[in-house]
Amino acid sequence: MIICRTINELRQAIRKHRAEHVDNKVGFVPTMGYLHRGHASLLERARTDCSLVVLSIFVNPLQFGPNEDFERYPRDEQRDLELARSAGTDIVFLPQVSEMYPAPTKTIVTVAGVTERLCGASRPGHFDGVATVVTKLLNMAQPDFAYFGMKDAQQVAVIEQMVYDLNMPVTIVPCPTLREADGLALSSRNVYLSEEERRQAVVLSAALNDAEAFMRGEATVTPDQLQAAVVERIQSAPLARIDYADVLSYPSLEPIESFEGVDRIIVALAVKFGKTRLIDNRILHIH
Ligand code: PAJ
Repeated sequence: MIICRTINELRQAIRKHRAEHVDNKVGFVPTMGYLHRGHASLLERARTDCSLVVLSIFVNPLQFGPNEDFERYPRDEQRDLELARSAGTDIVFLPQVSEMYPAPTKTIVTVAGVTERLCGASRPGHFDGVATVVTKLLNMAQPDFAYFGMKDAQQVAVIEQMVYDLNMPVTIVPCPTLREADGLALSSRNVYLSEEERRQAVVLSAALNDAEAFMRGEATVTPDQLQAAVVERIQSAPLARIDYADVLSYPSLEPIESFEGVDRIIVALAVKFGKTRLIDNRILHIH
């Protein structure tokens, strides 16, 4: 496994692979590190599709708000490298902030529409930071495929819109959410949770299961009723503070009055336990 710390080293390593392999396909998995099985599943998917698997680990300051957890975001390079190796990674790109942003960026990529609600509304500027760093990383690695987890469904929508609008020569591959045995979606931020918070955090996936059962069970249900049921379930956990619990059309992420003529919806949650903000979602087919 090759470790690159500069953009030049990364470009050279990928160029070398492309030159030496006729049937080359480059797969790219961008992350912020503190890797878990969810990240590993993206790397494994890339491994099955591609001849070269490139992983980036970079905690991107541009996508964190002033009162968010950039400074204390968990980092463990040694552990990450071991996990990357065992998932079949060929190249790890580990740039410093000074390599990615040698000077404050004057160019920001903004995606409108799909960023209006959910995390776009509750974390102002977040998706500008994500779209900008992903654009930079895609320009550096120039992969054929880039892999993203549906755990961050709105992020997938933002990246797909950006790639479409800007004609970026890459195929975005959305991948399923990996979960703990009790249903909690794997996240680097789960390490912040106290024992009691961790116990109660299962309420996110439980509420999504409820939502699915509710949609199957009720003949006539409105988006408002579905949302109310989800909210009620989350509020049954005393430590949970809801940031949002929304029912929107998918993939356009727009509010809906009824399920009439709607093909798919997303039930999207952001819930705080103490200082830790967890997100999860479920996409449901209506008909
Ligand atoms: P990070 O949170 O490290 O996530 C990296 C990738 O792993 C994302 O595509 C995310 O959706 C995926 N992922 C996280 N948890 C997952 C799980 N439980 N199952 C499957 N996939 C999971 O998302 C980011 O970093 C950043 O915003 C980034 C795209 C790297 C830009 O900085």
